[in-house]
Amino acid sequence: MAFRPMRVTLPMLRATPPTVTVERASARLVRVSLTDRCDMACVYCRPAERGAYLPADERLSVEAWESVLRGLRAEGVRRVRITGGEPLLHRDVVEVVRRAAALGLDDLALTTNASRLAALAAPLRAAGLRRVTVSIDSLDPARFAAITRGGELATVLAGVDAALAAGFDEVKTNSVVLRGINDDELPAIVGWAWARGVTPRFIEIMGVGEGGSIWRERLVTRAEMVARLGALLAPGEGDRDADRGPAKYLDAADGSGRRVGFITGSSDTYCAGCDRLRVTSEGMVRPCLATNDGVALTEEGKAGAPGAVAATLREAWALKPDASWKGCTEATARAVSMIATGG
Ligand code: 5AD
Repeated sequence: MAFRPMRVTLPMLRATPPTVTVERASARLVRVSLTDRCDMACVYCRPAERGAYLPADERLSVEAWESVLRGLRAEGVRRVRITGGEPLLHRDVVEVVRRAAALGLDDLALTTNASRLAALAAPLRAAGLRRVTVSIDSLDPARFAAITRGGELATVLAGVDAALAAGFDEVKTNSVVLRGINDDELPAIVGWAWARGVTPRFIEIMGVGEGGSIWRERLVTRAEMVARLGALLAPGEGDRDADRGPAKYLDAADGSGRRVGFITGSSDTYCAGCDRLRVTSEGMVRPCLATNDGVALTEEGKAGAPGAVAATLREAWALKPDASWKGCTEATARAVSMIATGG
C-alpha cells in the first residue's frame, strides 16, 4: 500500500492560504536538522528545562538521511546546510557528511555551537564538509554562560581554532545581538574574528520559539548594529552572496576585503525569493521557519524509492508562503520549535 504524504499543521495557527511566487521555481537550499538535541539552551531559542525531545525511534537513520539527500539532489537541490539542535551531538554526523559529500553538491556546510568542534573539525573536513558557522554570542565567559545557560566559552574558542586548523573553505560566526546583554560587544567580536580570518555575522533576534517572548524588548536592528560598528565599516546597504541565504555583507572601511554580515530576520524579513526548505530530524519537510506547516517524508522516501522524496518536496514547496508573508514577525512563528527546525 502506498503511504500518502501527511500534511501536518497546527489548526489554530495555520497560515493564510499560501501561494508560490514565480521567482522561486523550486528549492535550491535545504537545511537539514540532524537532531533536535542541544547541550546549550540559549535564551532566545529554547526553554531552560531540558527534555521534551523527539522520541529516539522517530529520528531518521543514516541510511534514511542518505536516501533523503539523494532525493533532494535529484530534485535540483545543490546546497545543503546541516543544523540542529546541535548537529555534532548526533553520533553519526561524520558519516552523514561523508555520504552527503559523495552526492556531489555545490555546497555542504554546517552550523554548530562548537561544544564538540575541537574533536570533530578535522574528521568533518576529511569527510567533505566545506564550510562551518559557529554560534558565539559573547566573548566574555560569564556572559556566554548566561546567554547559553551553561555553555563554556573556552571550549567553543578551542573549537573555532580547530576549525581554522582543519582548513575549511570558510569559517563564519553568528552572534544574535541582544539589547542590554551583548550589544556593546560588536566591535570586539569583529576585531576578534577578523584577526583570525573569520567572517563575523550579526543576527537580529527573531520572534521564533523562545524568541517570541523577548524579541521586542531585546531587538537591536541592523541600522543600530551598523551605527555601533561606526568607522570599522564602509558605508552602503551591503550585498548578499549569490545563492547563500539572506545575510548582507558590508566591507571593512580599511580596504582589507574583510566583511561583516547582517541577518535582518525582524526588521526586513526577506521572504520574497526565499529558496529554502528545511528537513527536521524526524523527517518533516518544512517550507518556512515561521510556521509549523510541513509534509512528512514517506517510508518509501526514507527507503530510497525513486520519486518518493520528490513528491514530498513538491508538496512542501507548494505550502511556501507568498512574498507578502512577514516571516518571523508573523504570529505563527512563536509556536515553532527552533531546536526541532534548525535556525
Ligand atoms: N532569533 C535569531 N537567531 C536565532 N537563532 C536561534 N534562535 C534564534 C532567534 N530566536 C540562531 C542561533 C544560531 C542560528 C542557527 O540560529 O544563534 O546561530
